[in-house]
Amino acid sequence: MNEIINALEKLRILPVIALDDSKDAIPVMQALIDGGLPCAEITFRTDAAEDSIRIIGREFPNVVLGAGTVMTIEQVEKALEAGASFIVTPGLNEPVVDYCISRDVTVFPGCMDTYAIEKAIARGLEIVKFFPAEPMGGMKMINALAGPYNKLKFMPTGGINPSNLSEYMKSDKIFSVGGSWMVKKALINERRFDEISSLAHEAVEIRDKAGDHDGK
Ligand code: 3PG
Repeated sequence: MNEIINALEKLRILPVIALDDSKDAIPVMQALIDGGLPCAEITFRTDAAEDSIRIIGREFPNVVLGAGTVMTIEQVEKALEAGASFIVTPGLNEPVVDYCISRDVTVFPGCMDTYAIEKAIARGLEIVKFFPAEPMGGMKMINALAGPYNKLKFMPTGGINPSNLSEYMKSDKIFSVGGSWMVKKALINERRFDEISSLAHEAVEIRDKAGDHDGK
């Protein structure tokens, strides 16, 4: 297992951040660190993604930093050049996944069915993003998929929040949970950074209460 995977697996919660303006990158990241989550997936849903990754990487070299919503090879290149150390994709985009593998870059492709999962496994991947998690059946679906794919770990994302986080945290099938609930657009735009810290802290408490992978 590589260092990035180890670090993300320990943290088990991955804030998904869409920044409209890279000037918010430092205070948002600082708030997450203060709340106990020194990791982030910066999504390429906004044009500020590349700059935000560069700024966070420079300011917080110890943060486990990746790029999300990556849909083209060009975005992978931009993300890596800016300092991202892992790539997350919404769907199993074969050229993007193959490019990451060829460059030895950690990639978590979004898979929501057996078809995509088998393509991921065929490429030697052991962890996939499960997206969109809640609309697709949440833990119930993950448990069903984990029957045949019993070596696979999942990173569910989509619709997760403090009310359903615990269920995911209790499962040994879960590598990490991704979500934007701690860093909602309104919180960022209204510069409610203390609230971002509190939400991160709350998530960490839910994680710790749910116990580690052994369900202790
Ligand atoms: C993602 O980009 O991974 C998801 O859209 C995040 O989902 P959420 O906003 O429901 O947490």
